[in-house]
Amino acid sequence: MSDCSEILFFEELDSTNLYLKQNYQHLADNTLVIAGMQSAGRGRLGRKWVSPANCNIYASLLVKNVHDLNLVGAIVGLAGLATVKEFAPKLKAYIKWPNDIYVGKAKLAGILSESCELKQGKITAVACGIGININSAEDDFKSINQAATSLFCETKIKFNLDFFRKRLAFFTNRYYIMYLNNYSLFFREWVTANKLIGQELSLIGADGVTHFGKAIAIAPDGGLVLREKKLMADESAVELNFSSSASENSPIVSEAGQISKKYSDSKSPEGIDVGEDELQKIGMPESGSEKYDSNGRGEVNSQEVTLLEEDSVENIYYCGDVSVDKSSIDFDKLF
Ligand code: BTN
Repeated sequence: MSDCSEILFFEELDSTNLYLKQNYQHLADNTLVIAGMQSAGRGRLGRKWVSPANCNIYASLLVKNVHDLNLVGAIVGLAGLATVKEFAPKLKAYIKWPNDIYVGKAKLAGILSESCELKQGKITAVACGIGININSAEDDFKSINQAATSLFCETKIKFNLDFFRKRLAFFTNRYYIMYLNNYSLFFREWVTANKLIGQELSLIGADGVTHFGKAIAIAPDGGLVLREKKLMADESAVELNFSSSASENSPIVSEAGQISKKYSDSKSPEGIDVGEDELQKIGMPESGSEKYDSNGRGEVNSQEVTLLEEDSVENIYYCGDVSVDKSSIDFDKLF
């Protein structure tokens, strides 16, 4: 099997993704561009990706046959994971939905897919970028407000970046061919590499709202199926009757992991609509001013309150930041 149709190496680039976005028209499908360092490495959600010289891997694949946009980033994700496994076979690395590569609770690699071309409302070329922490030391992650690791931190071995780049190119080509010609195998490999299915997670959605639940499956289109608890106020504890539906009273969870109950559509026990002012008159705080922890425990008017877990709903998410920080997953058991 040949390596990628073309491999371009630059000692320095602003960003390998940006390079593909600016040059995709003149480049062949399946071109892999690699940089020794990036002066303006891009992370997800507009964040920076710190990319020091000759320390880590910075690479982007140009995909011009975009038949499934949801999983296009999985090409470099699976390739990165396969390369990591080849160089550090004992390392329990996995894909954390949707794309990152993790070891335990720490991020080893990040993936950023950006569209290069849009034709009649359809994305026809994508830059799939991957940054893999190889030789960074623990101190290098001090400025990052996220748990991160590198192959060096995990194994105490310094890796040869040239060897790593060559194998990454090989696996990138292998998984792009699989994505194009054997999508069901590609999908199965990706699902198998996602080790957090069956675990309790929190997911911060695109709207910034945090959802707690159990990841029960990956949908055929790549979405994450989350079984979420539907929490309702314990009526005896707050001495209030809610006649509105569960969804109207569903809790909103902030990034801090606190649950605030939504009262905007609450109705009085008689079923008459009441606004914010009326709620305050009958002793209710303003909308969102109650705070509950992720177990539904909190305080209303100095009274301890526990939200009751009523039943569950299953929602599918297509993007978001999954976090396992608050759970006690035994990672050894996942492999
Ligand atoms: C993330 O935020 O997790 C995604 C990080 C992606 C970083 C890689 S490094 C190679 C490519 N070029 C970039 O500018 N970003 C991606």
